[in-house]
Amino acid sequence: MTVRLRSIELIVEDSAAAADFLTGTWGMAEAEVRGGTHYLRGSGRHPYLVALEQGDAPAVRSVTFTCSAEELDGIRARAGSAAIPVRADDPGGGEGVLVAMPEGECFRFLANCEEAAPLEGRDLPVQLTHVVVNSCDAEATADAAERLLGFRVSDRTKGMVFVRCNDSHHSTAFARAGFTSLNHIAFEMQDIDAVMRGIGRLRDQGMAPAWGPGRHGPGANVFAYFVAPFGPVVEFSTAVEKVADDYKVGAPEDWTWPENRIDQWGLSNKDNEALRAAEERFRFAAPAQQPA
Ligand SMILES: [Fe+2]
Repeated sequence: MTVRLRSIELIVEDSAAAADFLTGTWGMAEAEVRGGTHYLRGSGRHPYLVALEQGDAPAVRSVTFTCSAEELDGIRARAGSAAIPVRADDPGGGEGVLVAMPEGECFRFLANCEEAAPLEGRDLPVQLTHVVVNSCDAEATADAAERLLGFRVSDRTKGMVFVRCNDSHHSTAFARAGFTSLNHIAFEMQDIDAVMRGIGRLRDQGMAPAWGPGRHGPGANVFAYFVAPFGPVVEFSTAVEKVADDYKVGAPEDWTWPENRIDQWGLSNKDNEALRAAEERFRFAAPAQQPA
């Protein structure tokens, strides 16, 4: 599998303010402004990681993956009528399909995308490492990801189903939330130091993590979650586990914590109320992609 998570396309109420936060504090670089939409990138070869389109209410337009032409054919064949042909007019171009997942989540798959020259910068995110979605029925959504997209479930916990599209333990996950929305966007930093310096940059702006720093169970990645001023939960992350094709799918009983622990380090508290409010904010917009 060489399907790769590339980007998330968001509608926000103040795209300039959101871009200011993500470039000025979070650590991203401006890629370009096209048609009023801000495109922000990291140090890796993806032309952008986050698109910020101005709109009346926050929403997720799509979560975008890149793949080969052959993989795209496979997704078309598996997804059937759930796959709407699209041509991307975002940086990097490409064409592919928009797959409407069972609860209306728009997952976009593009082939023939252009890449960009990498950027230097130890505080730039390298790329997105995962986008987690809240689901009414996380098991049904994960099942659809396997059936329609060819993704594989890596682990199940009490709260989530973790799903991979390549050898990274998870590029997406579906949270057992009881509603459908964006749970969070995780940015891959180059190492733990870059995560820690990021926490420091936000601290300079008076912001504390809503959860973290810590190290997760499934995927074993380091994390620090914040509620961004423009609404969503964003995460600094690094070093997610690589898994082999025969990775044994873990069950909730394989992923329990001792009393008072919810990560491997046990350093931080979790602001469940702030996270929950932010996790409900970004719903999925109805597809409005340019047809191919
Ligand atoms: Fe995460």
